[in-house]
Amino acid sequence: MAANQVREHWGSRIGVILAVAGSAVGLGNFLRFPGNAAQNGGGAFMLPYFISLLVLGLPLCWAEWTMGRYAGTRGCNSAPAIYTMLWPNRLSKYFGSLAILIPLVIYMYYVLIEAWCLGYALNYLTGDLMLGSDADSYQAFFVSFVGAEADGALLAEGNRRWLLILFGVFVFNFALIYRGVNKGIETFCKVAMPVLIVLGLVVLVRVLTLGTPDPNHPERSVIGGLGYMWNPQAEKLWDFETWLAASGQIFFSLSVGFGIIVNYSSYLSREDDLALSGLTSSSMNEFFEVCLGGLITLPAAFIFLGAIDPEMVQSSFSLGFQTLPNVFAMMPAGRFFGFLWFFMLFVAAITSSVSMLQPVIAFLEEGFGLRRHASAAILGLLSALGCGFVLYFSENLVALDMLDFWVGSVLLFLLALIQAVLYGWAFGIERGDEELHRGAHLRVPRVVQYMLKYVVPVYLTVIFVGFCYFNVGDKARAISQKPVAMASIFFIAILLGFVMILVHIAGRRWEAEGRFDNIPD
Ligand code: PFF
Repeated sequence: MAANQVREHWGSRIGVILAVAGSAVGLGNFLRFPGNAAQNGGGAFMLPYFISLLVLGLPLCWAEWTMGRYAGTRGCNSAPAIYTMLWPNRLSKYFGSLAILIPLVIYMYYVLIEAWCLGYALNYLTGDLMLGSDADSYQAFFVSFVGAEADGALLAEGNRRWLLILFGVFVFNFALIYRGVNKGIETFCKVAMPVLIVLGLVVLVRVLTLGTPDPNHPERSVIGGLGYMWNPQAEKLWDFETWLAASGQIFFSLSVGFGIIVNYSSYLSREDDLALSGLTSSSMNEFFEVCLGGLITLPAAFIFLGAIDPEMVQSSFSLGFQTLPNVFAMMPAGRFFGFLWFFMLFVAAITSSVSMLQPVIAFLEEGFGLRRHASAAILGLLSALGCGFVLYFSENLVALDMLDFWVGSVLLFLLALIQAVLYGWAFGIERGDEELHRGAHLRVPRVVQYMLKYVVPVYLTVIFVGFCYFNVGDKARAISQKPVAMASIFFIAILLGFVMILVHIAGRRWEAEGRFDNIPD
């Protein structure tokens, strides 16, 4: 660490738990989860979902907390340095490139969706989103709002206000990051998470007390809505894709496998609890996902619109934007609840998007000895470039979908696998178990360590191979027909190359400093 940098620390235990939970609770809980569950067998989805939570999500989450604190107390905060500390080898730092690339790329499109949320909330405030009961008008509003009709549509004359919102959201994220882990992220999450619970509960109570609003459609009731979402379609259990979607959802939702938790937990002290904190933040995320996300979005839509066209559900992030405005239009005090809903999504998204920036900032500071303003400026430029790419190539949201699939699904699986192997085979489960339980307020069963060493890598490999087998062929064919899709892949590849070069240079600096020569035990 450069002499001019002060080591960062979390202020309190509840602060770090809320920050990790803040990263986890986001658009994935309210938009991606209900869409995924409805598409993959409703109640039947929950079986692979909970198995993935217990077998993959929680163990990997504990592993990330453990690896992060271990390396953090030895002076490392960024993934390339942390991985080298765990497995002192010339190659390990390059695996860390993925833990920088993934959050960075996800930020590039996530911040756009975050700005949609704020934009929709503001449109409810001004009354511009009360377009009556014609479902097509909301569809048209969404298409024009996100510029899905043509590339470059958002840069047209009339969209100044929207670009201003995006700019404001972007700057707000960087202001939080600039203030640091404790004063920025922790302070914000300590306020935002309770606010989220209150907003979520208010909307939930509203939805669950809607009864049967349309006497012409007696089947469109709260119970009917819950049945639509949760009735198990058992045959889906035999479908490989259901298992794939369930484990993908667990990773995305818990923010596990992104290299974020390793970074967050590297700011803990030697005796801070890991076991209970990991469990608490994950449980909090599951509460938001299953109890709020699962009971609001689709049941609400069903009550007013009936069974939704699966085509609508397909684009998981856009579901809430396209269908729910119909619901608010028909609901008493709909304008107010519309505002509340999109504002809640916006707050949930902010606590997640700041967590994507922090690992990159940590790397720039640690790898190049940069000060906060220099690293924030470089990251600002880099992410603005990527965000501009997604913003410009907005036709049918192809660029956004491409980055989400290749980085948010494929590379994510790969990094989760790398981290499981690093923990189980390089760091070692004996050391892992000991580290996890120092200062712990909870005893994690020993079997979790064996799961991490054997079950998780095998499970992930099987899913990953299946993933490639079932999806990659079709995807590659589709990509080759769309120039923007090809450009997106090219963009990811260039960025990966760039990050690897940065990691290489940082590695040379660390070697010259003799950083990993005598690792204290
Ligand atoms: N876990 C967040 C959600 O459910 O919306 C998404 C997320 C956060 C993805 C942080 C990636 C990330 F690095």
